[in-house]
Amino acid sequence: MFIAVDGGDGAGKSAQIARLAHWLQTRGRRVAFFRDPGDTPLGDALREILLARKDLAICPESETALFMAARAQLVRDKIRPALADGQVVLVDRFLLSTVVYQGYAADGDAESIWRLGTRLTGGLLPDVTFVLDCPVDVAFGRMNRGRDRIESKGTDFHRRVRDGFLRAVDDWERFAVPGKVFLVDATQTPEEVSAKIIERLQEEAPSLADA
Ligand code: TYD
Repeated sequence: MFIAVDGGDGAGKSAQIARLAHWLQTRGRRVAFFRDPGDTPLGDALREILLARKDLAICPESETALFMAARAQLVRDKIRPALADGQVVLVDRFLLSTVVYQGYAADGDAESIWRLGTRLTGGLLPDVTFVLDCPVDVAFGRMNRGRDRIESKGTDFHRRVRDGFLRAVDDWERFAVPGKVFLVDATQTPEEVSAKIIERLQEEAPSLADA
């Protein structure tokens, strides 16, 4: 099973992924965790370019292409082998992030990003995607560290990101995106958010809690 957790910056993805991984592991599941972009040598190099190199001019088309390249490598080198080995794969972001950050929130065309991105993952998309939704002011208030290149794009951009995730969930069926998507209110406590995610997951895949 392939599960993605996505959402705006500061929505609490990392904490929720850690909780979900722990829940699965205590039920005897073998879990592989990856973050997109990253977790391959190429992905780590592209992550550094995309997020840390504030001195580099990166045009919107290049930005989209570089996120796509990092993901293609991650799918081929890590995600497909882990799925073939029977592991539950958990990812911190996936193609939906490109659709939202480079599509809805920027000048890109969301539908063509879905199409190209799906081609570059060889058709592999998460079975279930959880989108953590949180107002930008709340999310940014939670971030107590320096901002990376994307996080530095300003509040207006991040409001469009939040709206973009909401629109992407609404457009899911219109664009015939495979897999299920669930919007989760991330303003609640981490315990409440986690309980909601696990409840949804158990409904979708009851066998995950079997062990
Ligand atoms: P993130 O994964 O949230 O890492 P951290 O928790 O270390 O901040 O950061 C990745 C950033 O990259 C985030 O601002 C979203 C952005 N991003 C895109 O713009 N497009 C994409 O396709 C992906 C995967 C991420």
